[in-house]
Amino acid sequence: MFTRKLCSLYDPPRDFPEPLLSMLSYSRNPLWQMLSLLSNTSTTYPYSHFTVSGTAALIFALRTCGINKENNVLLPGYHCPKMVQAVLAIGANPILVDVTESLSYDLDCLSKALDSGVDAVVLVHYFAKPDPLVKEVAEICNSRGIYLIEDCAHCDIDLHGSLYGNYGSVATYSLRKFYPVPEGGLACFINASHPADVVMDLPILRDELRSIYHWLETSFRGMRRPQAVTPQHNGGTELDVAANIPGNGISISLSDVSRSGTCTARMLWKGCNPEQARLVRKNNYQRLSGLLGDIRGIKPFELDLPETATPYVLPAVLDMPDKHYPALKYTGVPVWRWDQLYQSQCSRSFALGNSLIQLPIHQDLSADDIDRLAELIQTALIQ
Ligand SMILES: Cc1ncc(COP(=O)(O)O)c(C=O)c1O
Repeated sequence: MFTRKLCSLYDPPRDFPEPLLSMLSYSRNPLWQMLSLLSNTSTTYPYSHFTVSGTAALIFALRTCGINKENNVLLPGYHCPKMVQAVLAIGANPILVDVTESLSYDLDCLSKALDSGVDAVVLVHYFAKPDPLVKEVAEICNSRGIYLIEDCAHCDIDLHGSLYGNYGSVATYSLRKFYPVPEGGLACFINASHPADVVMDLPILRDELRSIYHWLETSFRGMRRPQAVTPQHNGGTELDVAANIPGNGISISLSDVSRSGTCTARMLWKGCNPEQARLVRKNNYQRLSGLLGDIRGIKPFELDLPETATPYVLPAVLDMPDKHYPALKYTGVPVWRWDQLYQSQCSRSFALGNSLIQLPIHQDLSADDIDRLAELIQTALIQ
């Protein structure tokens, strides 16, 4: 059971936390009720736009704030590669600032960087932990007339909108990370900054059919995965493995940025029960965190998540990442890290990119799966 879900080299690592199917097991109620929610994408925000992904939401937010190729956008040095791609996609110039040990911006460094002429700042609430300095960053941005975009891709929106996305001009979300949807993101405008004339293209029939196909395909792929992956110790490199994983590359279609997500995706999202998923994720998070405590060479990254937060992944730090990250991959552990950072002088971000790994805890994993995952990690780390 566990191997079917976890141990497949066919899993694109960056997409791994995508829940495989269990939409029906997390649905609120009968099918007709889900259908009635078809057009309902209401959130706690006054203006929210349903996009195809978190990346599309970020591009849409930047564009709506008027950012273009003349502008500089400040990003954290420790970032998901898609964030930089979003900035580059609109021709703007990314400026990277290092993060602190607790993954916030250093306020002095931030202010200095803003002096060089920045038009928008992106702040990430990493791994579902609300950034404790978001208010201060927002004040700095406000005093200089700079847009602040809160990237909430690691946070669930439905439950407790008050935890994230309260201070910036826009908050962006990635629904795919929490729900079994074929596509889905949100760009939520917080203040009065929302221009009234922003309209998104509607998805056409082809998008809808592709969405249904994608959802079914992902679901059935989950069921027919190979039973196990044989650990490879034959001298290959980590890159060999990555190169063989379909879908490992990242591409953004700009035509998809201006269109809304499909009705299929909305329906699947709205049909899910976020509270149920949150509880399973929390249990998985705590269980795996406890089990890692007994394994040498790895420790959970201290997050201290609020009670009501839905965990995204379990971040953990490797003592010997150069040796153990490839070992984890070869053992078949579904693990990934942000080791493709954009060029910068951000030394702490580079160190984090190497040693900070992300482990799955999503709601499709049972307690047995989590135990097996911990066993696999232990096997890899004693090699
Ligand atoms: C911090 C952050 N922002 C944005 C994104 C992009 O979200 P999506 O994968 O939905 O395009 C990601 C993706 O992993 C992310 O980690």
